[in-house]
Amino acid sequence: MEKVILIEKNQGWMKITIHRPDKLNALNASVLQGLQEALHDLHNDASMRGCIITGAGEKAFVAGADISTFVKADRNIGKELAELGQQLFFSIERSPKPIIAAVNGYALGGGCELALACHFRIASDNARFGQPEVNLGIIPGYGGSQRLTRLIGKGRALEWMMTGDSYDAQEAWRIGLVNHVCPASELQTFAETKMRTIISKSTTALAQIIAATNASEVGVEEGMKTEAACFGTAFASDDMLEGTTAFLEKRKPQFK
Ligand code: COA
Repeated sequence: MEKVILIEKNQGWMKITIHRPDKLNALNASVLQGLQEALHDLHNDASMRGCIITGAGEKAFVAGADISTFVKADRNIGKELAELGQQLFFSIERSPKPIIAAVNGYALGGGCELALACHFRIASDNARFGQPEVNLGIIPGYGGSQRLTRLIGKGRALEWMMTGDSYDAQEAWRIGLVNHVCPASELQTFAETKMRTIISKSTTALAQIIAATNASEVGVEEGMKTEAACFGTAFASDDMLEGTTAFLEKRKPQFK
């Protein structure tokens, strides 16, 4: 079976590539498990001092959680799915080793949330960001309602989540969601240069910068619990079934 997570170890840092290009790198159970193992590897390998997360191909970073796995889900499965994703993304956010997202295309839904969990984001000029869950009758469940709000502000975050619209890299840069935008052909080199600069610094100082900065976000645990419960509620709705089925059948949903 083809690997869905590729790991490349370089001098002092590693690259994790989510590799399901035919499904725009959508996050299914194998990807989530592979990501968890790759992060474990990062944390246990003392020679690895930082990490870049990116997506395979030229079209997508990650186009969201895998919608095909949603159709049979219910309230409990939805809540459990959110909690699983939240724990994984917490381990990225709380990693003592710097993790940069190199966003090389669509970063939608869980893909946007994955980028948000990284310490900061660099985007290619063809990247698109958004939280389109509302189009499926659900809500962001991997930390989006918390991290997007903190990063771009409540009003903008609510607009993103309520419209489901997506936004180009320039707009993401303008509102502070990404730190840099570069031509697609230069994205990986740019991210790697940034990573090399960072890992040349004190590993202790880097870990403390991350811990201290994360500490500014008090109350996030409670917010995540609420988000997981709301995600479960959305999963119990007929609209979720209609929204996900319509996507898979390539038609417009008819919400009641
Ligand atoms: N889950 C499962 N499969 C997905 C997916 C997702 N989140 N996003 C894309 N795919 C699959 C498509 O079903 C398609 O598979 P197929 O070739 O077997 O039919 C393949 O990836 C290519 O996607 P396609 O929709 O044909 O590409 P496009 O260029 O026309 O559109 C997007 C790209 C990103 C706009 C579109 O794929 C999309 O809207 N994806 C869903 C985004 C989303 O709602 N994410 C949040 C999920 S909670």
